[in-house]
Amino acid sequence: MIRPDTDSLTDFGFEKVAFEEKTRRVRAVFDSVADRYDLMNDLMSIGLHRFWKGFLGTLARPARAHPCVLDLASGTGDLLSVLDRAIPEPACRVASDINYEMLRRGRDKLSHGSRFTDVFWIEADAEKLPFADRTFDLVTMAFGLRNVTHKDAALAEIRRVLRPGGMVLILEFSHPRSVSVQKLYDRYSFGVLPRLGRWVAQDEASYRYLAESIRRHPDQITLKRMMEEAGLARVDYFNLSLGIVALHRGYRL
Ligand SMILES: C[S@@+](CC[C@H](N)C(=O)[O-])C[C@H]1O[C@@H](n2cnc3c(N)ncnc32)[C@H](O)[C@@H]1O
Repeated sequence: MIRPDTDSLTDFGFEKVAFEEKTRRVRAVFDSVADRYDLMNDLMSIGLHRFWKGFLGTLARPARAHPCVLDLASGTGDLLSVLDRAIPEPACRVASDINYEMLRRGRDKLSHGSRFTDVFWIEADAEKLPFADRTFDLVTMAFGLRNVTHKDAALAEIRRVLRPGGMVLILEFSHPRSVSVQKLYDRYSFGVLPRLGRWVAQDEASYRYLAESIRRHPDQITLKRMMEEAGLARVDYFNLSLGIVALHRGYRL
């Protein structure tokens, strides 16, 4: 019998799968949810995701007046609207995601007016970014890192494409600080989210993966350490909604 080499396996929610299998399955999750993604975000978080993203906007203060901005795992482009308010005159802006369907919906959603016609929409894996070293003053990533197979590779890429002095902001589900909040949150994520997924998006499995992937994601302190190991400096984080979400900030010196 050939035993799977456990070093070559990774988490897909609570399952163990091969690395390349995870990337393929994450892509399939977002292909499946793309149509209902924005609606589900509002329902699942009772609108709170707008507040979390808005908070990221308040911290988006790159060193240069006309910065180059990269939004990674941009999905349907919510952060572009937030950053548009925070940084009215960027020198360039790029929205990048591994999933074409998510990006297409973002582009269609934002391309109606004239404000977003200068955005470059780039299909790319956060682990292998097609950008030159030291290109961006600000890199953002909201609810994307959790889905990346090799998080250390993505963090190293973020550092590589940042200019010296550049800032990264990573918004992600995290781990509530209090045990009772964690228990309530577990009941919500494992009880309610998959059902909502079934009723609204006809896709229970993807929303079960969401709940499981949140549980598997590194906690606040571990992610801070991972960012430091990737060479990012002055890393700190802010707990939002009792630590259900955390916003990590770091710099390339
Ligand atoms: C939960 S959505 C977040 C979208 C958007 N940032 C937001 O906050 O609404 C996660 C996104 O991460 C993308 N993603 C997953 N793995 C990725 C990878 N390796 N590289 C780039 N994007 C990835 C998915 O395609 C999906 O669009």
